[in-house]
Amino acid sequence: MQADFRERVEKAVCSVKRRTERAPGIAIVLGSGLSEVIDDLVPEPDGAVTIAYREISGFGSPSISGHRGTLTVGDDVAVMAGRFHYYEGGSLDDVVLPVATLAGLGVHTLIVTNAAGGIRRDYRPGDLVLIADHINLMGTSPLIGPQDAGSSARFPDMTDAYDPALREIACELDPDLKSGVYAAMSGPAYETPAEITMLERLGADLVGMSTVPEVLAARSYGLRVLGVSTVTNLAAGRAGKPLDHREVVEVGASIRDRMVGLLSRLVAAVRA
Ligand code: HPA
Repeated sequence: MQADFRERVEKAVCSVKRRTERAPGIAIVLGSGLSEVIDDLVPEPDGAVTIAYREISGFGSPSISGHRGTLTVGDDVAVMAGRFHYYEGGSLDDVVLPVATLAGLGVHTLIVTNAAGGIRRDYRPGDLVLIADHINLMGTSPLIGPQDAGSSARFPDMTDAYDPALREIACELDPDLKSGVYAAMSGPAYETPAEITMLERLGADLVGMSTVPEVLAARSYGLRVLGVSTVTNLAAGRAGKPLDHREVVEVGASIRDRMVGLLSRLVAAVRA
C-alpha cells in the first residue's frame, strides 16, 4: 500500500458513515454479471441504503459492463455490486480500497464472487465452484509498500486464506458446489491456449482476473474469506471457439437464482 492509503480508507469510511449508521459484519463482493443479484439479497424496502461508488471518497466508477458500482448496506450484510480490476489501469490500492473500507466499517467476514474460465476438464459453464486456494500470477501484490496501519500482519499467513469452516458450511448449503484452485492473471486479454496448459500443470482449476488482490488485503485485516467462482466459459482453447465478455456476463446472470439462494443462506448461517 502507498503511504496515503490509511487516509484514503478513513475518508471512504466517513463517506459511508455519513449515509448510514448500520455496521454489518458480513460483506459480499459481486463479480461480473452478478450485480443484479443485489435486489434479492438486500431488499431496499428493508431500509437498506444504496450508495453509488462515485459518492464514496476515492472509489471512482467501475468501467466494465456487468459491474454496477454501488455499495448497499443492510443490517446484516453490505453488498458491493461491481469491483475494480487491476487491468482497468488504477493502482492495486484502488482495487483493494473497498475491502479496506469494509474492514474499517467493522466487517469480519468477506464473501467474494467472480466469473472465471474453467480449466478443469469436468467443469461446465454455469458451475459454481468454491475457491479452495489460489495462485497469484498477477506479478504483484497490494501489500507491497508500507504496511497499512489498519492491517494486523506484515506477512499474512495464507494457509487457510479461504476459510475451511465457511467452505464446509457452503458445501452443506449447496451440495452441488465444486471446489478448485483459482489462478489470477492480470488480463485484460484472455489467456492463450498455451497459458491454459501451463496453468493446468501448475495446479489451477479456474482462471480469472480479479479476487486475489482483495483476498490478500482481506487476510491482512484478519477477515474471514469465502470465494465462489461462476464458471462462465471453458478456458481458452477448450471450447473450440473464441472467448467473449458478453458470454461471461450472460452466463453470470443465468445462475443468478442459485447464487442468490447460496449467498442468502450463507449470510443467515454466518449471522447465526
Ligand atoms: N479467463 C480469465 N478471466 C475470465 C475468464 C477466462 O476464461 N472467464 C471469466 N473471467
